[in-house]
Amino acid sequence: MSTLSRRQFVQFGSLAAAGLLAGCGSSAGSGSGDAADAGEYTLVEEGKLTCISNLFFPPFESMNESTGEPEGFDIDVSKSLAEHMGLEVNWLPSQDFDTLVPTIKNGGKADIAIAGMTITDARQAEVDMSDPYVDSNQSIVVKAGSTETADTLNDASKKIAVQGGTTGADWADENIPAAEKKRLSTIIDAMSGVQSGLYDAVVCDLPVSRYQIKMSYSDLEIIEEIPTGEQYGIAISKDNPGLTAAVNAALAEMVEDGSMAAIEAEWFGAEL
Ligand code: ARG
Repeated sequence: MSTLSRRQFVQFGSLAAAGLLAGCGSSAGSGSGDAADAGEYTLVEEGKLTCISNLFFPPFESMNESTGEPEGFDIDVSKSLAEHMGLEVNWLPSQDFDTLVPTIKNGGKADIAIAGMTITDARQAEVDMSDPYVDSNQSIVVKAGSTETADTLNDASKKIAVQGGTTGADWADENIPAAEKKRLSTIIDAMSGVQSGLYDAVVCDLPVSRYQIKMSYSDLEIIEEIPTGEQYGIAISKDNPGLTAAVNAALAEMVEDGSMAAIEAEWFGAEL
């Protein structure tokens, strides 16, 4: 534990003294709801913050092709969170975005889902969401030079690609109702499909479409930025309110001590 700051060490010590660290293995989901005090929580694996995501959402999360390791804004946030909580981070393999909330709700597999996940009422009915840590909006992306607009896309002959289970998919259903929606498992498939002419447009979180166009899809362009005013939060089981409190405390510390600003600078430069 030599890397812990003094404050973290003190926190770690008091958790250990309370017997919470020793007893936390594989007990996630067993919380009775009375562990509401910050710092009292269960973990799927002792000493580890076990994380799940859909790892096809750069720059928030993706797989580094040469190392085979997850990387991105959320990965760095998860590492910093774990550090602030005196834990090690443990990343599980990628899963479909629309399975993340059910997995957290069912318990036993992962402690948190961190996935550029918008805080919504529907999700909050299933799981707890942490305090917001990123602001986001939606965007419509088409082939560069295309004459499409949100109006021309609203036609039965048009195909709009979305990632299944996302707020972008919901926005497209509500606002481009006439077009055919193609629900794909990743936003990468959606963008590649627009590039190859399979689909007419993608609706996707603006920071992701900006980053993707800059890094990999220079032949696509954003025709509309949609100010949905979304905020990302981290999903945690409702059976583990102490973990939500501890994550919120760690997020607040990360803002205060500059860790969050450093992660923002790393992945977004001055843009965020
Ligand atoms: N912010 C959007 C939502 O919550 C999209 C998130 C997609 N995240 C991902 N890792 N694929 O619905």
